[in-house]
Amino acid sequence: MLDRILGKNIAFYVRGHRGLVVCAILLTTISTLFVVVPAYLIGPFIDEGMKTSSDPVAWKIPWVAFESGSSLSWHRTELILVDKISPNRLLLLLTIIAFFSVLLKSISIYFSQIAAAAFSNRAIRSVRIDLFDKFLALPLGFYHKYKAGNLISRSTADLTVMQERIANILIGLVEHPLTALVFLIYLFIMNYRLTLLVFIAGPVIVVLIRLFGRKVKKHSTRVQDAIADLTSLYQETLICLKVIQGFCMDRNESKKFRGSADRLYKKVMHWNRWNLGLGPMMDATFFLVLPAVLIVGKTYFHHTLGELLSMIYAFSRAYIPIKNLARVNTDLRTLQGATERVFNIMQTVPDIKDRPGAAILPRHQKSIEFKEVSFAYEPGVPVIQDISFRIRAGDMVAFVGSTGAGKSTLLDLVARFYDITSGSITIDGIDIRDVTLESLRRQIGIVNQEVLLFHDTIASNINYSYQGKSMEQIVEVAKAAHAHDFINEQPEGYGTIVGDRGTLLSGGQKQRIAIARAILADPAILILDEAASALDAESEKRIQEAIEALKGRRTILVVAHRLSTIREADRVYVLEGGRIVESGGREELMALNGRFRQLHDIQFRT
Ligand SMILES: Nc1ncnc2c1ncn2[C@@H]1O[C@H](COP(=O)(O)OP(=O)(O)OP(=O)(O)O)[C@@H](O)[C@H]1O
Ligand SMILES: [Mg+2]
Repeated sequence: MLDRILGKNIAFYVRGHRGLVVCAILLTTISTLFVVVPAYLIGPFIDEGMKTSSDPVAWKIPWVAFESGSSLSWHRTELILVDKISPNRLLLLLTIIAFFSVLLKSISIYFSQIAAAAFSNRAIRSVRIDLFDKFLALPLGFYHKYKAGNLISRSTADLTVMQERIANILIGLVEHPLTALVFLIYLFIMNYRLTLLVFIAGPVIVVLIRLFGRKVKKHSTRVQDAIADLTSLYQETLICLKVIQGFCMDRNESKKFRGSADRLYKKVMHWNRWNLGLGPMMDATFFLVLPAVLIVGKTYFHHTLGELLSMIYAFSRAYIPIKNLARVNTDLRTLQGATERVFNIMQTVPDIKDRPGAAILPRHQKSIEFKEVSFAYEPGVPVIQDISFRIRAGDMVAFVGSTGAGKSTLLDLVARFYDITSGSITIDGIDIRDVTLESLRRQIGIVNQEVLLFHDTIASNINYSYQGKSMEQIVEVAKAAHAHDFINEQPEGYGTIVGDRGTLLSGGQKQRIAIARAILADPAILILDEAASALDAESEKRIQEAIEALKGRRTILVVAHRLSTIREADRVYVLEGGRIVESGGREELMALNGRFRQLHDIQFRT
């Protein structure tokens, strides 16, 4: 049932809170039963209660009597609720009933809305958490396809749209038909022929609802897309602000943003034209029919003023839920649009994940081996081609080569950020695709070319993944990474906040924190991609010493443009165009007089 209404994706999340859904619907049903009460009060209020003489009156309500004869038939009668009461006392009685029915209605509405808010927010909380976990699980390759702002927008704006609609729809689908029904029953009892007269407006209204529903869905998807564009612009601008200001491009960016804001405005207005248009169109259709009811009711059926007024009241009250039901339809279409955008991502199956029955990789102690490894980010554009090598545990090997040669990519393959296209990568003879990602990555400490820090203290950044390390251990690795001295010079020492992405630190300081972070984990394999590139000659030498001190205990893979950093490397691989063109010890390569010699001579020409 939920599947049919909300679609199975959302239904899955709502179903977990079945109790609250039932509770909200029951309370709504109760409140709905109270709304018809005034219709029963208006007639006697006017026709009997307003009488000026003090002759006793009776309070009658329309009723039906069934006759069982040859065939079941019914006719309208009246049920006398109170007899022989003075008009003034009747007025008092009716007022008290009206008061309590309104009070009970309000209380049940309040609690039904609380229950509805609870289940819709709980469902969306679960979607939110699952979506976030999805973001964490999806491989890096996925993120090359989307702008971060677009993803942020889906996880904020679209989820808000979904949350607001779910409760409206589920409650509305019970509340509105039921409200319409209780009034229609009242009206049928009062005068079924007159009531049928109003139904000639029905087909027109159905056509309107379907047309507007389709349009609303189309336009709401466009609105959410435009919001995503705008979010991307915010995000990109905040990240690239320095470049924008440096190039004096603020006016250009502002123009670009204005363009996007305009586009969003236009799309929102398109959506509104359809979203808001339905109500008035239905009103117009309905109120064209209503005067006919009055005229026919008076001249043909001879209803009293009180009866006519209570029928008009019931007609307009029966009509409102029909109109609201049309809103539910447009809400449903809006919900579908947002759901599609969110579940597009939720249903993306990560292509890098643990194989069923994946083993735990034991601590690396023998070798890392690449066998005829090829890799391409885009099919047909190989970045790594047919690379084979074997690194003994405890060795330090270096990868050099011109920019774009594929060095960073090669190192990313070891931690399985991307899966290779062909060949195999094994650690101690076990293919890295046969072990769990966690057991693989826990053994690898990585310092990336681009250092990413969290907006947190220096100590927490160093201690990022290995909660529970003592302050002494943090200081120890900071010393090893030659970060301790500058950290102590910071205003709050290890408690200094590094700013968003580490903006309050220099490039070299960030690099040293990243090195400390990587070695605190005591990884068996250390991957350093240009880890010393932002350091002055002095610090570089110190880092180099620190790295060399780790030699023998860990397998170290380094990428360095500055060949001085890799003086101690056991072996050097020269990469060009995704292939290894030379390999060997430093002296060997110098003697070879090839590409390595060339790179070396350029750097040490002085
Ligand atoms: N996500 C990606 N999608 C497609 N191509 C990519 C992607 N990342 C890198 N490349 C391409 O792969 C090639 C190798 O890039 P890589 O970053 O491995 O080079 P590198 O040797 O580390 O260079 P540098 O010394 O400048 O850091 C480059 O041609 C680059 O354009
Ligand atoms: Mg690189």
